[in-house]
Parts: sequence; C-alpha cells; structure tokens
Amino acid sequence: MLITIPDVLDKQRIDFVQQALENADFVDGTLSAGMAAKRVKNNEELAADEKLMQQLNNIVMGSLVQNEQFKAAALPLRVAAPFYARYSSGMTYGDHVDDPVMGPPGQQYRTDVSTTVFLNEPDDYEGGELVVQTAYGPQKVKLAAGSAVVYPSSSLHHVAEVTKGTRLVAVTWTQSMVRDPAKRELLYQMNQARESLLKKRPDDTETRQIDVAYVNLFRMWSEL
Ligand code: NI
Repeated sequence: MLITIPDVLDKQRIDFVQQALENADFVDGTLSAGMAAKRVKNNEELAADEKLMQQLNNIVMGSLVQNEQFKAAALPLRVAAPFYARYSSGMTYGDHVDDPVMGPPGQQYRTDVSTTVFLNEPDDYEGGELVVQTAYGPQKVKLAAGSAVVYPSSSLHHVAEVTKGTRLVAVTWTQSMVRDPAKRELLYQMNQARESLLKKRPDDTETRQIDVAYVNLFRMWSEL
C-alpha cells in the first residue's frame, strides 16, 4: 500500500531546506549505492557536512516522525537519517528494491518502509515521478513540496528520468514495529475507523470493541 501524506513540512521549513540545499555540495549518488543499485542509479546526493545534515535532519525528520499519519502508516521502531537527493535533467534511478538492511555496524536496522519527502514543487521539473510497482500495477507519485509518500521497502520502484529542471527529495527508511506490509495496512485501515469512531461516538459499545480489537491486534503483531 502506498500512502501519501500532505504537508509534512510547512512553507517556512520548505523555504529553509531549499535555500540550504541551493548552496550545498552534492556528490555522485552511486557512491552510496550497493552493487545492483549502482548499475541503475544516476543522481546526486548531498555531500557529508555534519552541521548542515544536522540542521536539515532536525527540520525534515523532526517533522516526519511527529506526523500522526506517518506514525499510523509506518508504525516506526527506528527511523534512519535521510539521504538528500538531487536529480537534474537526464538523471534517473532505474528499477530496484532498497537494501534490506542499512546503517553502520552496531546501528543496523531492517528496512520495512521507504519514505520520500518531496522538497520542491512538481512544476519545478518535468518527469521525475516515483513509480512504485503494486498489486494494482505501477503507481506514479509526484507530490507538492513538503508532502511525503510511504510504501513498503520490498516494492520494486524507480524514479523516471527528469527531462527538465531539478527534482529535490529526502529519502529515508524505517524499521517498523509490524514487519509484514499486509498487517501494517490492516492496522492502518482499522486505526482510521477507530479514530473516526472515537471522535464521533466515543461512548458507544462498538467504538470500545473496535478500539480494544485494534490495540490488541497491534500488540499481537508488534515486534520490538
Ligand atoms: Ni529506492
């Protein structure tokens, strides 16, 4: 399941991030790619600069991990520091699945959920859609600046070639408390019904039953 989350970053934060990235150094994205990805990856990534990364991560990740919809969709146990990627005209990232385990020794995490946060407007570039293969065929995603998409890391996906302008994104990975994407999807849907019932009919018996069932299913399926 693919979940889009609007307005993870507000206008002020987006302006700050865009300005910071405009003057930053980027390096060849294949430097951080595994063997299979190297063959299909053609983009640039923000060069290591601890101070800048820290500033950006505080803004981008700080907003993402506090977002209620992200929490409900990803059920995060660990969220990695993101990569900031830039695609200019002619750049692309061919079909691949993300690495199963990431992070330095001692801080490794399993990648269950992939997240892309769009950092500039769709009008700023042509092409550059994130295309994710799903059970219902390929889904194309190109969102407003500040919005994010969340999808299972096991999905085959690619970034279509940018044919004009520049595409800026932050990408990150989450180890979820619920490893199975089908179970996460059920919990997400059930939680939507539960939250709506808790608002509309907080005192109903059915509301309590749904709440108890959700909480106990989450407990049954979560691994920490
Ligand atoms: Ni990927």
